[in-house]
Amino acid sequence: MRVAFSYLDRQFTEVEAIIADIRGLVASGDYTLGAALSQFEERVAKLVGVRHAIGVNSGTDALMLALQASGVGPGDEVLMAPNTFIATLGAIVATGARPVFVDVDEQHTLDPARLPAAITARTRAIVPVHLWGNPADMHAIGAIAERHRLAVVEDACQALTAAIDGRAVGGFGDAGAFSLHPLKPLNVWGDGGVIVTDSDALAAQVRLRRNHGLRDRDTVELFGVNSRLDTLQAIVGNHLIDRVTAITDKRIEHARRLDAGLAPLREFVRTAPRRQGVRHVYQIYVVRARQRDQLQRFLVERGVEAKIHYPVPLHLQPASRALGYARGDFPACETEADEILTLPAHQDLTEAELDYVVEQVGRFYRR
Ligand SMILES: Cc1ncc(COP(=O)(O)O)c(C=O)c1O
Repeated sequence: MRVAFSYLDRQFTEVEAIIADIRGLVASGDYTLGAALSQFEERVAKLVGVRHAIGVNSGTDALMLALQASGVGPGDEVLMAPNTFIATLGAIVATGARPVFVDVDEQHTLDPARLPAAITARTRAIVPVHLWGNPADMHAIGAIAERHRLAVVEDACQALTAAIDGRAVGGFGDAGAFSLHPLKPLNVWGDGGVIVTDSDALAAQVRLRRNHGLRDRDTVELFGVNSRLDTLQAIVGNHLIDRVTAITDKRIEHARRLDAGLAPLREFVRTAPRRQGVRHVYQIYVVRARQRDQLQRFLVERGVEAKIHYPVPLHLQPASRALGYARGDFPACETEADEILTLPAHQDLTEAELDYVVEQVGRFYRR
């Protein structure tokens, strides 16, 4: 049996209806900032429960523009955990600010207890990542940000429909960033991203910044970039957005099945404790495994596409050398990187495929 990490081919839905709408787009020529984009933005805002959503080129741009619109720039410091995808770090660096790393808690998300020690006179913002679809502790992080007057931009790129006490992530901070990359539950046919916010002023700033800073056709209010979500991609998003909660529900169901199947093996593989009141959407299903590298090899040889998200913490990447960090600086992230393993939990997997994954993990440890 082969169990892949993702099944983009099984997601091949509504193609004819989408193509029909794209024909309409070609006939109208409404390619940039078109009506379908406004409709998509309204629907994302409603889904997240915020006043504004603004479509941009990618989740990375969503983070960068949200940070810039929050006033982050050269000379500022921005706090983040080093165990995320490079895009979180790249977006901060692109603003000209200095990223400052803070270690993670047992949920693998930014540890609020370690934040105060990292705050300096230059600190301007915090970027908590809802890693793998698991919400960071936004209540504690929000309280610290308020006390120190820091902006909070949530990296919710992996976490659409994740929530804390029934409130969707993305809506806790000054702004939140989502990715519409094909591997995400709400995907487009290529790259895309969305910024969400309750702030009218921040939304207006982001709208300016994604479109060259143009207030109107001939007036440049500030220097921005070209980062508009294409109308064509918004058409795709409009067709798929109604499915996103069902998709994440399915991922949660799959995670529960894996949890239950792996429970007898908890001496060898364990998941982070599941928190009350938190909706973790399992964009990525991660366990901590003994003999991780051998287990990964064993699974891959048996057709299970087990991966590592992410094997090298960002403070140890070659590109981060100039930031001056060294091994040993963030022990929780470093230990985690040696132990974590991602098992397939995609929404389109069958129960038989999930059970095969569990069976193979069991075989490895019982050899
Ligand atoms: C945690 C995280 N942040 C940011 C991004 C960037 O999103 P995009 O690929 O849409 O630029 C991703 C994408 O995978 C991500 O996983």
